[in-house]
Amino acid sequence: MAIILGIESSCDETSASICKDGEILSNIIANQTVHQKYGGVVPELASRAHQQNIIPVVQEAFAAAKISKKDVSAVAFTRGPGLLGSLLVGTSFSKAFALANGIPLVEVNHMQAHILAHFIKQPKPTFPFLCLTVSGGHTQIVLVKDYFDMEIVGQTTDDAAGEAFDKTAKILNLPYPGGPLIDKYAREGNPLAYSFPEPQIPGLDFSFSGLKTAILYFIRDNKKLDENFVESNLADICASVQHRIVTILLAKVKRASKQYNIKDIAIAGGVSANSGLRNTLHQAAEQYGWNVFIPDFEYCTDNAAMIAIAGYYKYLAKDFAGQDIAPLARMSF
Ligand code: KG4
Ligand code: ZN
Repeated sequence: MAIILGIESSCDETSASICKDGEILSNIIANQTVHQKYGGVVPELASRAHQQNIIPVVQEAFAAAKISKKDVSAVAFTRGPGLLGSLLVGTSFSKAFALANGIPLVEVNHMQAHILAHFIKQPKPTFPFLCLTVSGGHTQIVLVKDYFDMEIVGQTTDDAAGEAFDKTAKILNLPYPGGPLIDKYAREGNPLAYSFPEPQIPGLDFSFSGLKTAILYFIRDNKKLDENFVESNLADICASVQHRIVTILLAKVKRASKQYNIKDIAIAGGVSANSGLRNTLHQAAEQYGWNVFIPDFEYCTDNAAMIAIAGYYKYLAKDFAGQDIAPLARMSF
């Protein structure tokens, strides 16, 4: 029997999860609301909030799973990528827990864990598959050959898709994080009301910074004509921006599917919670005969269940980390 304690603290969610033989028994997430008034995550405040939250979150994860601390087989933690001060809290906690209980330590790459969240529930994808990983800091197309044999075949050359959502929200004076709000308003709007440019980037790479500038100028120019332009047309603006972000993402996934002749397509990361992206992927599944894998909402944004499941597969492979391990703000596969 393998019981894994998973710890996630890479950005502004403190999370702990218990996984027993590949089944998630609990997944507790403490969101940090302290950043809202600053319009983005303040690293120093994030570290302090992790420090306050980590033990209560772990206690709750054990209680919800009805598992005793002494029965844990290994502790898995996010080593990176992320905010260094935030990562240090989860890393230090995990090392101390492993040392105190005489159990192995397992390091997990946060971006790989987003993808491995697909192995929490049925139906699970079969290797090889393609995964579009879209979060606040990353936008990648990953060729997933095995649990820990992954190749990034396309990525953003500037902003991430989540940033495109969050920066648009900022331009529209919506609170942070804006992605979920744009999604909400977009439901009531016309996605073809306004047309934003689609960047011409070769291969499987992405670019979102041009779109951000186009939106900024579009809002500025229209506000000169009508100072209530945003308030009067919020739903249409959100729907049109979301439509463009989703079409940019889908065009590259289509290209990757053709290039690698793979029709098993997954999405992962915070932006995979976006209803426009989820609907478009379902439509594409019918249109192109794809098998699509879309995570439950709970496993889209940052959570420790994905760390625990990734840790479980590493535990089976006896892939352990030493007590001298340190977190990495930047970390590739
Ligand atoms: O994966 P995640 O929780 O954290 C990172 O590892 O970055 O992703 C957070 C990002 C934010 O940019 C947030 O605005 C975006 O995911 N997001 C969404 C939605 N839910 C979260 N973007 C669009 N629509 C959503 N429903
Ligand atoms: Zn993430």
